Amino acid sequence: MKDSLFIKAAFSEKTERPPVWMMRQAGRFMPEYWEIKNKYSFLEMCKTPEIAADVTMLPVDLLGIDAAILFCDILVTGEAMGGDLDFIQGVGPKFANPVRNEKDINNLRVDCIDKLQYVADAIKVIQQRLNGTIPLIGFAGAPFTVMSYLIEGGSSKDFKKTKLFIHNEPKLAHQLLSKIASVTADYLNLQIAAGVNAVQLFDSWALALCWDDYKEFSHKYNVEIISKLNRKDVPVISFCKGSSVFAPLMAEAKPDVISVDWNADLKDIKHRLPSGIAVQGNLDPHILYAEKHVIKDRIHRLFERMRGEEGFIFNLGHGIMPDIPFDHVKYAIEVVKEFRY
Ligand code: CP3
Repeated sequence: MKDSLFIKAAFSEKTERPPVWMMRQAGRFMPEYWEIKNKYSFLEMCKTPEIAADVTMLPVDLLGIDAAILFCDILVTGEAMGGDLDFIQGVGPKFANPVRNEKDINNLRVDCIDKLQYVADAIKVIQQRLNGTIPLIGFAGAPFTVMSYLIEGGSSKDFKKTKLFIHNEPKLAHQLLSKIASVTADYLNLQIAAGVNAVQLFDSWALALCWDDYKEFSHKYNVEIISKLNRKDVPVISFCKGSSVFAPLMAEAKPDVISVDWNADLKDIKHRLPSGIAVQGNLDPHILYAEKHVIKDRIHRLFERMRGEEGFIFNLGHGIMPDIPFDHVKYAIEVVKEFRY
């Protein structure tokens, strides 16, 4: 895999064009996803290696992306620790037993990696199917983001309960974050041992935090996790919404790649990072709703801006929305793949 476009760009080596993959590429914008989803629950899909492999392969076969991402969810660590997790159609993820006090935190297990063995099994099936063609990205949720779901009991707009908890009960918040961080490091190492070629840490909701809280309640644990990874030939990607602001701190954790949201000028962010850290991003996913000539123009604009930069992976600033037309996503990938510097 060392010679694949994706791995080369992740390790800041020169490539003839930027590699492309998209966050949430294996999902609801694809009719083929629904054919599978209508037969099983989301967790059944994640926990059945053959089905997880089928879904992982959809964007590989139908879109021709340069890297596959494991089909799973960031919240499976919370479930393995004891969270009663369900994904409810039209609502999203729900934990029926939210974590609100010391007793709830004590009830969460750290020694639970055996509960995630199905992910290692899925990785092995996916690697057989990929058969060395393109790299497979594994992933986990960062402790702050996973904690927010455990405390809120599901998705939230303002993270009110989570922020109240870190402000009023900082000691308990640190206990909870330490537990999640420990499981997350074990979990990513399990994925690396099973054969993923890269890993991405998703701290999607870090943007809810102010600078000091990000440092204390998010960044600290991401540093801890990244320092524990058996990463040798496996690049580590750090993503958060908020990276336009937090990128200089994210760099301190020494990831190979920082995945940037769409607010920032990508070249400007890259130039503010230590050399040797690649960037991934950062098209506004809403561009994919627009007419095709707009999509092409915006991708070319980004590429012109990044001309001459080593270490650039094309992606969106966040995930593909479910109602983005499939042929627009496919077109965007063709535009990237036809481009040459
Ligand atoms: O990128 C991929 O296609 C790989 C698989 C993947 C999923 N979730 C599948 C999924 C990945 C990498 C994730 C990460 C994830 N999950 C994040 C971080 C990235 C991000 O988008 O911010 C977060 C915050 C979650 C939590 C989560 N899972 C939410 C909020 C939801 C419901 C709403 C939504 O955005 O889809 C999920 C469900 C989920 N995870 C689905 C998929 C394909 C949809 C399930 C369905 O209804 O069919």
